[in-house]
Amino acid sequence: MKQMVQQTATRISESLNQSRGVELTPLQSALAVAADADVLSLAMGLPDPSLFPVSAIQEAVARVLSFSRSALQYTLPCETLKKKICSLMLDRGVDCSPDCIFLTSGAQQAISLVSTLLLSIGSSIVEEELSYPNFQCLVDSFRPQILRVPTNSTCGIDVDVVEKLLVKGVRPALIYVMATAHNPLGVTLSRDKRRRLALLAREFEVPIVEDDPYGALFYDIEPIPSLCSFDQQWIYYVGSFSKILCPSLRVGWVVAPEECIKPLSIIKEGCDLNISTFSQWIVNDFLDSENIVGHTELLRKVYRGKRDAMNAALEKHMPQNVHWEIPACGIFFWLDLPEHVNASALLSRCVSEEKVAFLPAEAFSRNKRSNGMRLNFSHRSIDQITEGVARIGRVLHR
Ligand SMILES: Cc1ncc(COP(=O)(O)O)c(C=O)c1O
Repeated sequence: MKQMVQQTATRISESLNQSRGVELTPLQSALAVAADADVLSLAMGLPDPSLFPVSAIQEAVARVLSFSRSALQYTLPCETLKKKICSLMLDRGVDCSPDCIFLTSGAQQAISLVSTLLLSIGSSIVEEELSYPNFQCLVDSFRPQILRVPTNSTCGIDVDVVEKLLVKGVRPALIYVMATAHNPLGVTLSRDKRRRLALLAREFEVPIVEDDPYGALFYDIEPIPSLCSFDQQWIYYVGSFSKILCPSLRVGWVVAPEECIKPLSIIKEGCDLNISTFSQWIVNDFLDSENIVGHTELLRKVYRGKRDAMNAALEKHMPQNVHWEIPACGIFFWLDLPEHVNASALLSRCVSEEKVAFLPAEAFSRNKRSNGMRLNFSHRSIDQITEGVARIGRVLHR
């Protein structure tokens, strides 16, 4: 039996074209480390659980259940939730109709369904050198040709390189972009770069998938309109309630041209049959009865304090040859380490010597870039953030 399971795992791994065999993915490894109560993990992108609106959700659950048994049934997507998402999208600069909204199980499923819609086996994809590993993982099953574009924590994706590729005649099936609060780099693209990317998408008729789960978490800047606000025909927007409400309800959405909604629903049906009616109704009820604007303001206030605490700790404890930018949005710091430092090796030492964890650059890089790390500041308390950074600093100094 054990052998059979091993063979199946190997087969899945091979079909996903992953060179790492049946090892855990970076996220699974981080979850395993985070589950060890002795390790102070700054690795995962978890929200602060003390900010989950528990009693409001309890009340929403009670109301939803008393309203109709259909909450527990196979049903159609929640139309009133779509309308509310349209109002949230106005804050992201997008004026869209509910007919352009497709509800999903979180942003992850949204990216997966849109990728399935746009990709064929062997399609080419424009991806940043450092990118969200769960996007890389999901598109691997298409055995894509990856067109890697430089990126960094100061300016984000190199739009000139994207333009050169397109001008040369390359036509990727999609460009994957996190314009706001890039994961892992923390960088937010300027308005000018957004406009240029949107123009390129339109001129060369190449779809962009804009992954935006952190769009509402901006700190000392005015919110920049989403990439999608510059073009709704070529940009497929992905949103989520995971970071502004809670991840376990698994409610996300796509804003796409109306003609894509039916095909997306067929792909989704093949994937998980039906929506999570219960979750969608809870979110819908929460938005009816609670002030989501006030709630996101609270998140921004608390996370801004944590971000500043992490920055202060980094300034105090990091050696001079470690560099970072203060993220204006999102929940991550990215640290550029000296060339000779291998962050994966550093992580092993941090876990064994100081019981602290982060995600190393390798988790985000197909070409195994090693000298960088991502630190999360939303999940832990300010004291834990300060202590965690001090521990990493001690290992780096050693
Ligand atoms: C960039 C990015 N996209 C998508 C997701 C998935 O979000 P969800 O929980 O809505 O599936 C995450 C989760 O952390 C993320 O960081």
